[in-house]
Amino acid sequence: MVALAANAKRPLTTGSLLSGGPKSGRRRKFTTPLLIILVVQGLVAWHYWGGSDHEGVGVAEGSRDALARIWHPSSSSREPPGQLGGAGSVSTALRRRTDRALDVPFKLSSDPLPVHHIHEQIHFHNHPLSPHRPPSNQFLLAPDAVSSGRIKRTAPVLSIITATQNPREIMLETAASVLGQSLQNIEWIIVDDHTTKPESLAMLRQIAKDPRVVVIPNTGDKGLSASRNVALRWVLSEEKLREGRRPKYLASLDDDDLYEFTALEKTVWMLESNPEWDMGGFHVIKFNANNETVTMGLHSGAANFFNGNFVPNAAVYSTRAVLNSGCRYDDVNFAVGGEDWDFWMCLAENGHWGGTVPEPLYWYRGNPAAFRQSRWGNMFVDGFSSLKQRIQDKHVALTESGRFPDPPVRPSRELEAIRWEAPFETHLARFKKTIMFIVPWLYVGGADVGALHQIQLFAEQGYRVTVVCTLYRNPQGVELRPHVLQYTHDVHILPSFLRASDIPRYIKYLVDTRGIEEVVMSNSQLIYEMLPALAEQMPHVKFIDYLHNEAYDGWKSGGYPTFSLITQRFLSRTVTCSWYLRDWLIERGHTNPNSIGVVKLGIEVADFSPNNASMKALAKRDLLNVPESTVVVTIVGRLDPQKRPTLVPDIADKLRRLGGYRKGDFVIVMLGDGDLKDEVKARVAQLRVADFVRLLGTVEHPQTYLAATDIFLLPSMSEGISIAVAEAMAMGLPIVTARAGALPEQLGEAPGVDSSQLAGVLVDHQLKADVDAPKYADELHRLIDDPELRARFGANGRKNVEKSFDWRTTLMGMFDEIKKAKLPDYTKALAMPNPAAHFALQNLLLENHSETDFAAGQNALKAPTRFGIGKELQERCGESSQALTDWINSVESPRNCDKKGKLEAELLQRSAKFQCGAWCLFDLTTDKFAGWSYNGQCFTPFDEQSPGWCKEFWSSRPAGVHLPKDVAIPLRGDDDDDDDIDDDEGA
Ligand SMILES: *[C@@H]1O[C@H](CO)[C@@H](O)[C@H](O)[C@H]1NC(C)=O
Ligand SMILES: *[C@@H]1O[C@H](CO)[C@@H](O)[C@H](O)[C@H]1NC(C)=O
Repeated sequence: MVALAANAKRPLTTGSLLSGGPKSGRRRKFTTPLLIILVVQGLVAWHYWGGSDHEGVGVAEGSRDALARIWHPSSSSREPPGQLGGAGSVSTALRRRTDRALDVPFKLSSDPLPVHHIHEQIHFHNHPLSPHRPPSNQFLLAPDAVSSGRIKRTAPVLSIITATQNPREIMLETAASVLGQSLQNIEWIIVDDHTTKPESLAMLRQIAKDPRVVVIPNTGDKGLSASRNVALRWVLSEEKLREGRRPKYLASLDDDDLYEFTALEKTVWMLESNPEWDMGGFHVIKFNANNETVTMGLHSGAANFFNGNFVPNAAVYSTRAVLNSGCRYDDVNFAVGGEDWDFWMCLAENGHWGGTVPEPLYWYRGNPAAFRQSRWGNMFVDGFSSLKQRIQDKHVALTESGRFPDPPVRPSRELEAIRWEAPFETHLARFKKTIMFIVPWLYVGGADVGALHQIQLFAEQGYRVTVVCTLYRNPQGVELRPHVLQYTHDVHILPSFLRASDIPRYIKYLVDTRGIEEVVMSNSQLIYEMLPALAEQMPHVKFIDYLHNEAYDGWKSGGYPTFSLITQRFLSRTVTCSWYLRDWLIERGHTNPNSIGVVKLGIEVADFSPNNASMKALAKRDLLNVPESTVVVTIVGRLDPQKRPTLVPDIADKLRRLGGYRKGDFVIVMLGDGDLKDEVKARVAQLRVADFVRLLGTVEHPQTYLAATDIFLLPSMSEGISIAVAEAMAMGLPIVTARAGALPEQLGEAPGVDSSQLAGVLVDHQLKADVDAPKYADELHRLIDDPELRARFGANGRKNVEKSFDWRTTLMGMFDEIKKAKLPDYTKALAMPNPAAHFALQNLLLENHSETDFAAGQNALKAPTRFGIGKELQERCGESSQALTDWINSVESPRNCDKKGKLEAELLQRSAKFQCGAWCLFDLTTDKFAGWSYNGQCFTPFDEQSPGWCKEFWSSRPAGVHLPKDVAIPLRGDDDDDDDIDDDEGA
């Protein structure tokens, strides 16, 4: 992931993404019932509501017109369901979508708004049914699930219980959010608690036309708790059990709240993945009367008893837990509020608990205080503290320490069993225009913004896009998710709700349930490595990979392009973002160049425009405090080895000597941060060029600095297509960069094009500072002296990006590439690398490096002679590299980094024997989190109180090793150490 992580740290400069702020539509509200109808309608509506009388429901007036407008008359959705049917059962075989797939339009909002998850950024009106979101018909009920009668014969995965009394029109939004779930195999039990208003009754009848809806009257005592118990009695009845119709999961939803469309699918999968759990929650957004976000929840454990109720009222719970515990809603003691809290505490008292999907999947509509009171009585009549008292009195057992249930999550283990079959049938319709994008995560960085643009483009063409992330890193790794959610509801950050061993089958499940036949994958090592299995499980699915650039530092022998080469037998097509990279693949033995296409990423050209002289003078003064005459040279790039930032002080030094320049003649502005910052600073000081080099760190909008710039410099080792260079070209700046990677191509170099048409100069570097710095200085000197040449290069660059670098134009190529994708022909497979060989060697090198790598053996021959603990470590760990030599030296005589601090050297050394080369040495005499972190020289003790960075690596503590604390083990060199360890193997 190194290459991507590096890419990803680039600050985003595409203005359109950052302008998630106020837009004209932001304050727009639903003004007409028609809008509500528009969002409520789906295929289900067409089949089950639209085809019947309106029965005088005011809100439904005109729904036919609305339907006619959103469904093309030619749409196959008008076909009788039977034609789309066929035998469908839970099966492990994938079904091709072809004739069974629906062709239902999916039309994006014309005014999309990002769906943020960070409180300060959230648009609280942008809930799942907001007109700024994708339409609510992304997921529809499979017609054949109805026509075959399966929906009435089999148990739903989950039953939602909603008690309602004289529901308002707003309940139609709740209905749309329930019936539009990606988990379509649900039942909605609506308990009508003595509704009297005719329009409400009519609306309930209307909703009940959906075959999954059951309306049950509450004929007994009024109230929320009593009504919900009516539903529980019904759903848990013996009769249901006999019919095989008892659901595995339950949830209680108020009649005006909203689920995100993937809420139930993700939560249920989390529970399937963690069978010891009985409750699944999510983060909550409260909107309407008050705007709040709730990120506490089931994971907050006993705080839910002692401090307040943080379990979302719409959380999923298992039928098993309700049956085991006998818990019901307490309509005597909590008839006027607190019923949810009491119910959860009852489950907790009986040992049932669970966890949280860390994503806002539920929108809780806050109502004016008077409203709820008018319906359900005087909630919180005595205030919160009295409610808390009553909860604690009733569930007094939970006050005992250690009594609150804390069912642990099983840590993932290597080589756990992998299943491929889905745990349930979803009854989700398959669609014709679908596509899946798989990326490791959604950083705000070049690679992922490229993915976002592709997602947007496909969604704008009517595709239902499914997005999968294979890594979860909060918050950076989900920063771009709000923007992706503008184009699809279907975004899945797998490790945030699934155990690792369920990832393969979940991907297959998504592909199967959505009817996906094309998967575009980018930068995901996991998917490349899993591809042999995925291709075997889904033989008709085309896997297409998109490549950005080779790893410049030799990581994985070139990184993702190397993965692409190795797995080519399973790929239907490979798309690179430069001709350079295509050639790179062919040079390294790609067997089928015809299967490689080129599609450039592009930038938002409209966000950049060349600055005129007077504006530039102003920018120079305001931003940099230099006069117009100072030539400003700007570099945008991370301070890491790829970009060679340490070369810059040398360039500045050579340049000032070359031109006899003084302070104020030129200045090199470096934008970006990174590990080499201190080194660059030191070099600046050493060469005394502080007057000529400025390090400004990362800035949010490099455009503002580009506006003050005369020359753009990028002395990288290599680059794929560089977004920073493209943006500088769009600003009309001349470029000085290396003849490396795709940079020549980007500056316009091509056969038959002479250098006067390029966007700048290309330096033939040798990657030696003393050779390269003068070369760069020469070119800069020439440009500083020649404003006309600068202007010509700048104009060429601007023309070049206008013509061929706007992302909407460049990325259109993806549609062709997808069409050209051909399922692999395995008869030719012998000519291609077999990934199994590569992956096996990769893992062996990771785990048994010193026993596998010839170089390790050779290096071990050179290891020093050691005695005592040093000898022991040498024998156990194999002293096969300089890094291990340093480590063993340090463990031999461990020093505390804090010179005044103490260190339990003997404990450290004993523990080190089982953690060869580790920089986080866990204390193996305790099961608690404790040990010493190493920094290459000395050690810093850590424990729960001061955890340090080793907290992240806690899962790497050697399993099953428990050393006795007080037995002083003689530090012998040759004895069998294993007899004092309680090892897994013995058990
Ligand atoms: C909640 O946020 C919305 C928009 O995001 C705003 O229109 C509304 O006034 C806010 N409500 C309150 C009570 O602050
Ligand atoms: C330079 O650009 C600014 C802003 O775009 C504009 O207001 C100004 O008139 C321009 N000046 C010249 C000399 O073109």
